[in-house]
Amino acid sequence: MKLAARLGRIKPSATLAINAKANELKKSGVRIINFGVGEPDFDTPQNIGNAGMESIRKGMTRYTAVGGINELKDAVCSTLKADYGLSYGRENVLVSCGGKHALYNLFMTLLDPGDEVIIPSPFWVSYPDMVNLADAKPVVVTCPQEDGFILRPENLEKAITPRTRLLILNSPSNPTGKYYGADELKALAEVLLRHENVLIASDDIYYRILFGGKKWVNLAMVEEKLRDRIFILNGVSKSYCMTGWRIGYLVGDRTVIKAATDFQSQVTSNAASISQWAAVEALAGDQKPAAEMAKVFERRCTRVLELLSAMPGITCAAPDGAFYVFPNFSAYFGKKFGTRTIAGSLDLADFLMEEAHVAVVPGEAFGENNCIRFSYALSDEEIEQGFDAVARALRKLS
Ligand SMILES: Cc1ncc(COP(=O)(O)O)c(C=O)c1O
Repeated sequence: MKLAARLGRIKPSATLAINAKANELKKSGVRIINFGVGEPDFDTPQNIGNAGMESIRKGMTRYTAVGGINELKDAVCSTLKADYGLSYGRENVLVSCGGKHALYNLFMTLLDPGDEVIIPSPFWVSYPDMVNLADAKPVVVTCPQEDGFILRPENLEKAITPRTRLLILNSPSNPTGKYYGADELKALAEVLLRHENVLIASDDIYYRILFGGKKWVNLAMVEEKLRDRIFILNGVSKSYCMTGWRIGYLVGDRTVIKAATDFQSQVTSNAASISQWAAVEALAGDQKPAAEMAKVFERRCTRVLELLSAMPGITCAAPDGAFYVFPNFSAYFGKKFGTRTIAGSLDLADFLMEEAHVAVVPGEAFGENNCIRFSYALSDEEIEQGFDAVARALRKLS
């Protein structure tokens, strides 16, 4: 069957491919420790689940306004006031079916064929594909490990052309866990102020999972003059263990939000009503469970870095947040096990799956072939066992 040409411009998600392979092995009775997952390993906090159930009991199960219920828009605005110190109104908010959907709406609303979108690499796997789906051109800018995987102002300057429409910043980052501090953001802001046609998508989905007492900051907070050009993307998936509820939101210029809402009205209509009510409780209710989860991730991160540092040849930029590490395994490239040679991150991920029974995501999927992404959204016991198995498998390579 002939498919539309746009399908030729996207790849299936690398994480899904890893999961499929892990499931195949599981079916044959092998226990796989899965470091590939991109979601917290905790249940949705009870108060949030109860709010969802209550909304069903009260019959709040019909279509809502396309852009979301006012209660949720208000909760988003209050959260932005409290956590960012920024004032927005309901007209600046669009509620969508997950952060991914919010991003897609933004791309479809802003991008024309030939428009360029600057994507600092390593990047979240979906950015380039989603830009391609919007008929625009991803411009990947390498941010090497020596730079802490952070976009430097001179590299941003070099990447900007008259066709540049959008820059995507993701902090803390999936896959590196690195975040942009105020100084780094101010340096980028200086460049952006010189290029007034460039808009910014700030993907802040991990902003509540920050380590070492780091204070949250984003571009809109450090440079007021950029505020009208910044779109904040967020959602409840990661911070509140609500990946399955599918609530994300986009905040920014009212004209764009109105257009993105019109776009959403012809695609999905509103996000699920029940999920919206649960998200109101997530944002406006007790914040303790979310804060405690962030602390657990920080503790695990410290342990994971210890385990990695005990493995010869591996370097790893210490994350500032989220629940991923992105260690560099290039010291093992070119090594052999039997007839198998490890040429890059894909081979290494395959080798670890077969020899260590550990699922990881190859860095190639994130634009950095030297690295492997481990998510530590796993129990302490699985983390210990998984890294022990990785260390043993690596010793087989020569
Ligand atoms: C960087 C980043 N942005 C956005 C998302 C989208 O999350 P969701 O669609 O579940 O809200 C993810 C999920 O993995 C992510 O890692």
